[in-house]
This record gives sequence, C-alpha cells and structure tokens, in this order.
Amino acid sequence: MQKRVYWIQGDGIGAECWKAARPVIDAAVAKEYGQEHSFEWVELLAGEKAVQETGTPLPQETLDTLAHAELAMKGPLGTPVGHGIRSLNVALRRTLDLYACIRPIQYFDGLETPVKHPERVNMVIFRENTEDVYAGIEYAANTPEARKLVELLESLGAKVAPDAAIGLKPMTEGGSKRLVRRAIRFALDQKRASVTLVHKGNIMKYTEGAFRQWGYDVAAQEFGDLTCTEKEPQDGKLIIKDRIADAMFQEALLHPEQYQIIATPNLNGDYLSDALAAQVGGLGLAPGVNMSDTLAFFEATHGTAPTIAGQDKANPGSLILCGALMLDHVGWHGAATRIRAAVNKAIAAKTVTCDLAGQIAGSTTVGCTQFGELVLAGL
Ligand code: NAI
Repeated sequence: MQKRVYWIQGDGIGAECWKAARPVIDAAVAKEYGQEHSFEWVELLAGEKAVQETGTPLPQETLDTLAHAELAMKGPLGTPVGHGIRSLNVALRRTLDLYACIRPIQYFDGLETPVKHPERVNMVIFRENTEDVYAGIEYAANTPEARKLVELLESLGAKVAPDAAIGLKPMTEGGSKRLVRRAIRFALDQKRASVTLVHKGNIMKYTEGAFRQWGYDVAAQEFGDLTCTEKEPQDGKLIIKDRIADAMFQEALLHPEQYQIIATPNLNGDYLSDALAAQVGGLGLAPGVNMSDTLAFFEATHGTAPTIAGQDKANPGSLILCGALMLDHVGWHGAATRIRAAVNKAIAAKTVTCDLAGQIAGSTTVGCTQFGELVLAGL
C-alpha cells in the first residue's frame, strides 16, 4: 500500500530537520514491510519558501490541496512580519478545522528530568483546538465594544467593573463531543486503560462543567458497551474518569501511571502539554498532530529556532517522532515502534544534539545530520 503525504518544509531549521527525518521514516517502513508499504511525499508551499516562489505565505493551492488530503506533515513556520496573516499555524488550524491537537508524552532513556520516575509518564493529550479562550473573542478595556458588553452583562444581572477588559469562552456540545469521541476511539484502538476528562467545572460550571458532562454523555451514548466509569469499573472495558485541572497537575506528578489518555478543553490542554513534556525532559522532542475529521496534519512542536538555523545543529527528533505518530495513525505500528526504539537508543547512548547535550551529563554532541544517521542506523 502506498500512502500520499503532503509535506511542508517550514522555515528556519525546517529544511535541515526534514533532511535528517525523512530518510528515517522511509527506512523504517522499508525495514518493516519491504516493498509492501511506502509513502509518496508531495511538497506543498507555505511560509518563507512560499513567499519566495509565489509572493504569499499561504497559497490557496496549499489550502485547497490540504482540504482534500488525509496525511500531511510540516516543519515549523515562523510568524510572518508585515503580512496580513497573524500566524500561519493558526490560519491552517482554522481553515482546515483541525479541531483536535494530539500530543503523546513519553520518556526516553537517558534524558535528565526534574522528577524521580519520568518513565511512569506515558500519556496522550487530546486538546480541543477551536473553542474556549482560543476562539480569541476579546475586547480591550475601555473600548466601545467592551463597554457595550459590560452594559449587556449588567442587564443580565452580572456585576462587572465598567473599565474591565472582556474575554469570552465559547464551548459547544458538538465541539466538546467530537474531541472526546476521538480520544475514546484512540484509547480503544490502542487498548489503553482509561480516558480522563480534565476540566475546571467546579468554577466554570456551564463551560468546563458542561465539557465534563458532554464527555460522559458521548461515552455512554456512542461507546456504552465498550466503556465504563471509574465508580462502576467493569473488566476489560475502557474507564472514563474526570479530574479537575489543578488536581490533574498534582496527579501528573504524583501518580502519572494512572493516566493514559487525557481529553481536555483548549487552555487546560495548553498548560498540561508543556508541563508534561517538561516532566519527561523532552520539550524539544515532542511530536504533535492536529486533526480534522478527514486530515491528520503532523507537526514538529518546536519553532524555527532562527539562531541555529542553517548550522546543522538542530534536533530533528520532533519531526522523526512525528513520523512514528503518523505510522501509528495509518496502522503501520511495527515501523513506528522501530523509530521510537532507535531514538531511544541514540539518546541512551548519549549521542545527542546540542539542545539535549545540556541535559545529559557526559554526552557527546552531534549535529542534525549525524543524529539522523544514528537513528537510521539504529532502526
Ligand atoms: P523556538 O522553538 O524556535 O525556540 C526556542 C528555543 O529552543 C531556542 O533556544 C531554540 O534554539 C531551541 N530549539 C527549538 N527547536 C529546536 C530544535 N529542534 N533543536 C535544537 N534547538 C531547538 O521558539 P521561539 O524562539 O519562541 O520561536 C521562533 C519562531 O518559531 C517564531 O516565529 C514562532 O512564531 C515560531 N514558532 C512556530 C511553531 C510552529 O510552527 N509549530 C511553534 C513555536 C514557534
């Protein structure tokens, strides 16, 4: 089977990371499946390369192609200065309705971390990507819009200072359910033990609290015979539980092994993803994917690292692990496992790029190209 993947080089360190990462992904597939499976890589333009070749950072052709695509992967995109679009990443997420931001958090042997047992962390975070405060409905203090809203809120019985800045937090049943549905499907597919709904429903009852309820509802209505709740556990069934966000931060440190899949609204997910990635020492290594109902758009989670771009110093690990995530997504799990094991081997051997060298005592610093070659050899 051949699967087409649209790829976007990205800005800054994007080019060198791709040069190191793609051979690893292709080789993992070839080693595991011979001629049976392969990827067909088709480049799309975005970012600086697109500006140079077409005069615009996000060509319509790129958006049109992605609208009908199943798989895509991108390097980091810088935020263009002096163009109409504020952030290409946000524009892509909105235009393509990439509503689920999915981040696996896993420990690699040898990384130094701030906790005693980082190996107990093995979670996948499903973060809602389109609603909550991320919807960006905000009005500055003392503007006519903010004053108008304050008046409206007062008329509804709320007490708001007249000079308040106003931000709104829309959350819908449909938006919440489609995110939790995806998390449950993933947990069932990967045979994980539980899905935890993380919310702040004790304070924000009708947004965060509703997210929790809609999460339980979708589990009961659509996966009733395959799931159970924490209160009434049933053998062999996926447990759906919930935690208040602040308690979840404690739990992530104290009992991380009790959590596998997290489903959460946007802002909680934003905080939790980075905190957990830091907990396993792998902020720069974390892969990610943004999904719509039709497209899985994998992305390196780091930025363009302009100060080291073009110097063969960057860590291609995030893009390499995006490859593993994509392989899991298409069901080619054997090749995904090979990649993760090879990255683990390179890091455990303490041959790492400069960003990780600082975290590993006695390590040898290698460049982007060499790190890619080491992972390739370890497949
Ligand atoms: P950044 O992630 O580019 O850099 C933060 C620090 O980490 C720097 O010291 C950098 O050298 C280092 N770093 C990042 N990735 C690395 C890698 N793979 N290997 C070795 N070192 C690495 O974040 P920053 O500086 O805030 O943003 C720079 C640009 O990237 C901005 O234009 C920003 O908008 C964009 N950005 C894009 C993202 C995306 O496309 N998903 C995500 C984050 C930032």
